[in-house]
Amino acid sequence: MSGSGKDGLLGNKIAAGLLTAGLVFWGANRIAHVVIPDDTPKTPAIAMTSLATATPVVVATAAPAGVDLNTALANADIAKGQALVAQQCSACHTLTKGGANGVGPNLYGVLQHKAFSAPGFGYSSAVSAKAGQPWTPDSLSDWLKAPNSFAPGTAMSFAGIKNDQTRADVIAYLNKNSDAPAKLP
Ligand code: HEC
Repeated sequence: MSGSGKDGLLGNKIAAGLLTAGLVFWGANRIAHVVIPDDTPKTPAIAMTSLATATPVVVATAAPAGVDLNTALANADIAKGQALVAQQCSACHTLTKGGANGVGPNLYGVLQHKAFSAPGFGYSSAVSAKAGQPWTPDSLSDWLKAPNSFAPGTAMSFAGIKNDQTRADVIAYLNKNSDAPAKLP
C-alpha cells in the first residue's frame, strides 16, 4: 500500500489526540477538585440552631392521642415543659420577668395577661382580632397546637405542638412562670 506510512502516522495522531484529550480532561478534573473541594467539612459552616434539631423531639414524644386538656394539665410535667420552651421557643421569646421582646413578645406571666397585648411589641394584623381577651389554658392550647390555624397569617412561624400532653406540659410551665400562677386542674 502506498499510503501505509501516512496511515500509520494518522493512527499515531489519533492515539496522541485521544491521549491529549484524556489528559486535558483528567487535568481539568484535578483543577476543579482543587478549586472546588468536595470533601465534607469537619464542622458545618452554618451550625443549625436548637430550633431545627429540636423539632423531631415533639414528634417523637408519643403520648396517647386525644388526651383531654384538664387530664393532661393534671398530669403535666412542668420541668419537661420548661425544657421544651427553652429548646423550641426561646429563640424568639424571652421568659424572664421584664425580659425584652424579641422576634416574639416576652412570655413572663403570659397566661395572666390579655392575649397579644405585650407592651411595646408590634403584633401582626393576623392576631389583632384575638387581642385583648384573657388567655385561658384552653385558648392557649388552641394557639400552641396550631398557631396558623388559630390566627391564619400569624407572624409566629412555629408549626405547633401536636402532642396533647406535651402542650399541657408547656402550658403548665408558662402558668408557673408568673408572679401569680393560676390554679390549674
Ligand atoms: C419563630 C419565632 C417564634 C417561635 C419559635 C415561637 N414563637 Fe411564639 N410568637 C412569635 C411571634 C412573632 C408572636 C406574635 C404573633 C403575631 O404577631 O402574629 C408570638 C406570640 C406568642 C404568644 C402570644 C403572646 C401574647 O402576647 O399574648 C405565645 C403565648 C407564644 N408565642 C408562645 C410560644 C411558645 C410556647 C413557643 C414554643 C413552643 C413559641 N411561641 C415559639 C414568634 C415565635
